[in-house]
Amino acid sequence: MAILEQPPTLNVSLPVTIRTARKEDLPRLEWYGQYAHFRNLFQRAYRDQQLGIRLMLVADCNSFPIGYIFILFMDDEGENRQAYLYSLRVMEMFHSRGIGTRLMNEAEERVATRGYNEVTIAAAKTNDVARRLYERLGYKVFTDDLGEWSYTDHLGKVRHVKEPCWLLHKTIAMR
Ligand SMILES: CC(C)(COP(=O)(O)OP(=O)(O)OC[C@H]1O[C@@H](n2cnc3c(N)ncnc32)[C@H](O)[C@@H]1OP(=O)(O)O)[C@@H](O)C(=O)NCCC(=O)NCCS
Repeated sequence: MAILEQPPTLNVSLPVTIRTARKEDLPRLEWYGQYAHFRNLFQRAYRDQQLGIRLMLVADCNSFPIGYIFILFMDDEGENRQAYLYSLRVMEMFHSRGIGTRLMNEAEERVATRGYNEVTIAAAKTNDVARRLYERLGYKVFTDDLGEWSYTDHLGKVRHVKEPCWLLHKTIAMR
């Protein structure tokens, strides 16, 4: 009887750090072309980060951003200061290792430290994984949206997106 051989396995453990994005991350956020069409959005988010309007957090593994989340700080008039979390994404081969959750935790930490207490995030209606993640972290659906928006891609072509979504909300303690 043939003995089934186990292929040789090397277990690699690598640290992942959540940090603010740097200029040199911008081309890497495209993940070797997979998200080249978001180039202008990444660049605008980075410009806004320098102005203090947005913040881009990356999950850094070996100096490569294997995941990211962006924060938009809304108009800060009034008592409730709103922040919008968006573009949460983790490279597929690193899914289900807690990186998405850590990015969300760190985003909330940064929001609270800036003195913002109301956080909103959208999950596409077809995206059960994202909705589950947000609900596990205490977010509650408060409405839905057609999810219609447009952007200009890296080739100058206007792309229209229509992705019906749930909008979820959480109140966090200000620092
Ligand atoms: C949504 C997304 C960001 C989640 O990222 P992630 O790093 O896989 O998230 P987590 O690992 O923290 O959680 C995902 C699942 O893994 C589980 N998990 C977390 N750590 C784990 C571990 N160490 N071992 C096993 N499972 C684990 C979580 O419990 C969760 O399980 P569930 O789906 O049954 O609820 C990712 O799926 C993604 O990039 N999707 C494509 C882009 C996208 O949809 N973004 C959201 C836009 S709204």
